[in-house]
Amino acid sequence: MDIKHYTKPPEHYVGDMLVYFVQQPEKGVPKCPDSRIKLMMQGAVKAGDFLGKEGQALLLYPELRGSRKKIVKRILLVGLGKDEPSREMFRKAGGTVAQRGQSTKSQKILVKAPDIESKKLTSSDICECLTEGLILGSYQFRKYKTKEDPDEETGTIKEISLAGKDVSGLRRSMTRGRRSSEAVCAARDMANEPGNFWTPSHFAVFSRSLAKKYNLRARVLGKAEMKRLHMGGILGVAQGSAQSPTVNIVEYRTGKKVPTLLLVGKGLTFDSGGISIKPSGGMHDMKMDMCGGAAVLAAMQVIGQEKPKNLDVVAIVPASENLPGPSALKPGDIITQYGGKTVEVINTDAEGRLIVADALAYGVKKFTPDAVIDVATLTGAIIVALGHHRTGLLSNDDTLAEKVTAAAEKSGEPVWRLPLGKEYRKQLKSTVADLKNIGNRTGGSITAGAFLQEFVGEVPWVHLDIAGTAWNFTEKPYIPKGPSGTGVRTILELVRDWRNK
Ligand code: BES
Ligand code: ZN
Ligand code: ZN
Repeated sequence: MDIKHYTKPPEHYVGDMLVYFVQQPEKGVPKCPDSRIKLMMQGAVKAGDFLGKEGQALLLYPELRGSRKKIVKRILLVGLGKDEPSREMFRKAGGTVAQRGQSTKSQKILVKAPDIESKKLTSSDICECLTEGLILGSYQFRKYKTKEDPDEETGTIKEISLAGKDVSGLRRSMTRGRRSSEAVCAARDMANEPGNFWTPSHFAVFSRSLAKKYNLRARVLGKAEMKRLHMGGILGVAQGSAQSPTVNIVEYRTGKKVPTLLLVGKGLTFDSGGISIKPSGGMHDMKMDMCGGAAVLAAMQVIGQEKPKNLDVVAIVPASENLPGPSALKPGDIITQYGGKTVEVINTDAEGRLIVADALAYGVKKFTPDAVIDVATLTGAIIVALGHHRTGLLSNDDTLAEKVTAAAEKSGEPVWRLPLGKEYRKQLKSTVADLKNIGNRTGGSITAGAFLQEFVGEVPWVHLDIAGTAWNFTEKPYIPKGPSGTGVRTILELVRDWRNK
């Protein structure tokens, strides 16, 4: 889909749909944005069908009596509600436009950005968020559909134009919004790909092409290299699978003396649970267990495009399958993680922490980062704790935790912090090794975080558990069913706004 800016008066537009946003007034009738639909809108308001409430949409068909002039096919009014305008309001509004555009099979759409600037929300913010909502809400994954279905109820939008006041500001904010949402869509594509296509070696293909395209450095560790480095976590998890694991490293370097941010993403391309096998119902969804890896690489795409001046960024994605093959890890096995810590594997389904631990320990040792963020679909327990509305955040550093929380809030990917501490770490005591890979049934997301903490030492670190927010989190108009691509925009918000203190 193309997204452009439009400089002529919106009334001249003759595409498939013209969109206006309408704020809900405290009292009385919402303002009519286009004289061609005045009567119809008044009728809808009188009938109580359209008041400008958040998410409300009114589709109208304008008519120019007696004139042969070509006019736009449809006018869509989208309600913004009464709340104070916010970034999230416009992402959602953009998503609603995309949904309505698809359901009417509109191919060309013009969106008129509203003139409701405030100190907290500039017209650039509005355009950036509208762009995000429009692109993210139009996302479709059709790669494996071989035929057009005549009964298909949704169309594919070809082009969306955005009209607003400040043309140069509009262009800049649209570019920002476009880059981050295209990266989110790239992460969604990776997650939608089936496990038989998106294997650990595919992460390597993606990393290398990213590096080539944006002049980054990519290095892929294969099995031999992992053996040399004693990465027993990822090697152990991959034992049951015919697919070789990969550790994918993508580096962005400024060439200056600036801080380094290390990103680690869980790239488990299919999680059957291994010998501690999962129940079969819903197991197919475990192709999404690589969403953390997808998120950090997708973020690297934008970092490669924008090349921040004050920050080096390194992304590491440990990638593996978790299958119960003949050489698979067995409950009770003891492995040695990168760096030498031994782990008794009580449950082979708690594999994410084993591969992420190797990547964290390796990344900390090799790149001496100033901050570390890992993103992982780590625990089902986080869904019990927070539902599907917030990502779990665990951290050993209040300042970094606050920074990430603020970035997450701003990008509409809210997080909620859970505690860490000795009392939780105790649950991981093993009688035969340094650590067990699971605690007891309580506080599962915290013990998973406590496990990872063992591998970052004192470096400021944030762990984002996205198991509940990465997949089928369909509560928002700009997040269709399937993968959300969560994490990408939080990382970008943080990087774009990074301040070296
Ligand atoms: N990949 C899963 C976590 C998960 C659950 C992701 C639901 C997305 C949706 C992870 O590897 C896992 O299986 N964790 C176990 C840990 C347990 C054995 C301690 C879990 O959450 O059940
Ligand atoms: Zn698992
Ligand atoms: Zn997993």
